[in-house]
Amino acid sequence: MSGALGSIRGHPQARGIARSPAQSFRCVNAMTAYSASSVCGPVNQVTVVGAGNVGSTLAQRLLERNLANVVLVDIVDGRPQGVAIDLGQAAGCEGHNRTIVGTNDYRDTANSDIVVITAGLPRRPGMTRDDLTQVNGKIVINTLRQALALSPQASVIVVTNPLDVMTYLAWKASDLPPHRVMGMAGVLDSARFQTFVAWELGVPPRDVSAMVLGGHGDLMVPLPSYTTVNGIPVAELLPADRLQALIDRTRNGGAEIVQLLKQGGAYYAPASSACVMVESMLLNQRRILPLAAHLTGQYGLDGLYLGVPCRLGQGGVEDILELSLTPAEQAALERSAASVKEQLPQALALLDS
Ligand SMILES: NC(=O)c1ccc[n+]([C@@H]2O[C@H](COP(=O)([O-])OP(=O)(O)OC[C@H]3O[C@@H](n4cnc5c(N)ncnc54)[C@H](O)[C@@H]3O)[C@@H](O)[C@H]2O)c1
Repeated sequence: MSGALGSIRGHPQARGIARSPAQSFRCVNAMTAYSASSVCGPVNQVTVVGAGNVGSTLAQRLLERNLANVVLVDIVDGRPQGVAIDLGQAAGCEGHNRTIVGTNDYRDTANSDIVVITAGLPRRPGMTRDDLTQVNGKIVINTLRQALALSPQASVIVVTNPLDVMTYLAWKASDLPPHRVMGMAGVLDSARFQTFVAWELGVPPRDVSAMVLGGHGDLMVPLPSYTTVNGIPVAELLPADRLQALIDRTRNGGAEIVQLLKQGGAYYAPASSACVMVESMLLNQRRILPLAAHLTGQYGLDGLYLGVPCRLGQGGVEDILELSLTPAEQAALERSAASVKEQLPQALALLDS
């Protein structure tokens, strides 16, 4: 067993740090650890902060795609440990050979390649946008600093809402270069648009390529001119009123699910979307994906994080692509940016509190 643990980069026990069984649970056996490290080369490690719906589903996706060993950390004692045991027990059925640790102790997260922040509350009835910024802002600053202290080389993906504001705050709290801090929303919003188009046309979702820019909220900017079905612009396949209905449904995509679930929000597609971003970085796929990136003049905008198409590789955001937009699309993007910017001072004040 000690050989198995020693073969995993950064394991605290391998470095002589004592850990009580209640603090963390590592689901690993000698065979899986041996095959993971000796057959495939070094195994990446991803820390997922927040073992709630999005975090635990993301952990599941990462394991089942054999992408990385996962450390799942949460403030609630027992929750990440329980999820880790449960996911670990699925390994044989799913046929993957990655490991998962559930913990309340950041020392278990040391030397992670990527840190994904999903900790925080979803917006609840009666909560203003500012209330959510206050609560989640403190959580993002606190959890990110603890994680990065032990994984200073990591890149960061923020999932916690309000997304574009939390991503900017995370960058400010981290001292990392901006290309290593990014937010997940555009992949999800584009996946929703893609799905609605596919359902409407009765084609497989993989035949549809969709693009949504802007902030993660009702001011997001779906781009029909960059949405195609196997190369055919969607506007040639759908009448304008149907296309507009799909755009509206995309903008309302999160709220539609919240309304149906009555408690909590979407998490399967959000977890899949974050997983796509992790995969593009870990496998250096250099995919072009819409994500919240730091803008320094692109699209005429600066001083914020906002959803734009980026090339995403091993080192993080390699390029921001500037699409040519119609005047109406550009104006919509500027409205979305203004709404995000308006919330930044309140969030940044948390850094001094
Ligand atoms: N960007 C997106 O597209 C997108 C999509 C879905 C959800 N979200 C956001 O992701 C966040 C999580 O959503 P969820 O559905 O998983 O919520 P959830 O309530 O199921 O899980 C949140 C988890 O965070 C944990 N947590 C709270 N404070 C913590 C702290 N200080 N340290 C560590 N863990 C802490 C909680 O214990 C809980 O397990 C929310 O803010 C939600 O709005 C964003």
